[in-house]
Amino acid sequence: MSSILYGVSVGPGDPGLLTVNAVETIRSCSTICYPVRKAGEKSTALEIVRGAVSLDGKGIEELVFSMDPDDSVRRASEKVALDRLCGILDSGKDVAMVVLGDIGVYSTYMYIDEAVRQRGYETRIIAGIPSFVYGASKAGIPLMLGNESFCVIPMAKDSSDRLDEALKTMDNIVVMKAFKSMEKIADLMESNGVPLEKATVISNLGMGGEYIGPIVRGRDYGYFTTVIIKRCSRI
Ligand SMILES: C[S@@+](CC[C@H](N)C(=O)[O-])C[C@H]1O[C@@H](n2cnc3c(N)ncnc32)[C@H](O)[C@@H]1O
Repeated sequence: MSSILYGVSVGPGDPGLLTVNAVETIRSCSTICYPVRKAGEKSTALEIVRGAVSLDGKGIEELVFSMDPDDSVRRASEKVALDRLCGILDSGKDVAMVVLGDIGVYSTYMYIDEAVRQRGYETRIIAGIPSFVYGASKAGIPLMLGNESFCVIPMAKDSSDRLDEALKTMDNIVVMKAFKSMEKIADLMESNGVPLEKATVISNLGMGGEYIGPIVRGRDYGYFTTVIIKRCSRI
């Protein structure tokens, strides 16, 4: 039981954004795992890693953590994945599980980490660069200055009320999982008197089809889309 599970943040897309710590941890582990929702799904995190570290000679393991609405399906898939993961640890191999962006920002990895620790194994977390931090730097804007406030709102489940509230009270707002909600975000900005020019969309950073620019109504945005709204900032 002395093997260790490492949760390794790999940054938002550009392989140059893996930290030295992340690269060294991946090099030191003989098995690399990546979580998916469905068998055979592409792992963006694994693709990023391939651009930064040679995985020759390492075991690569897909672990399916289903998001099926049926609880029993989700639990059964989680058990299979955790049994497999712990089986690898039992065989004496350290495992790096690779995660997009920073592991502490909306990553399902932390549920896995808790479950593995509950089974008595040691885990360690390697921090990384979150998408919105990289996005702000690429857009050439600060996330917050001086005494300004800052918040992050995920739009995947309808969070319109929370965004509405933030647009009345916060200086800087990052909207994640924004892809299907761009019209809603634009509507809420306008109904709160916040000009659309205060928003910068950062989409597919470090990936094909990168877009950094204003909200364009009617445009399609992919899953990897974040919006930075600088409601009251000087810059
Ligand atoms: C499940 S969250 C993962 C966040 C990730 N852990 C992080 O630190 O950025 C997925 C959301 O992160 C944002 N995101 C992740 N990678 C991105 C990228 N390369 N460009 C723009 N937004 C990205 C998008 O808002 C996307 O919907």
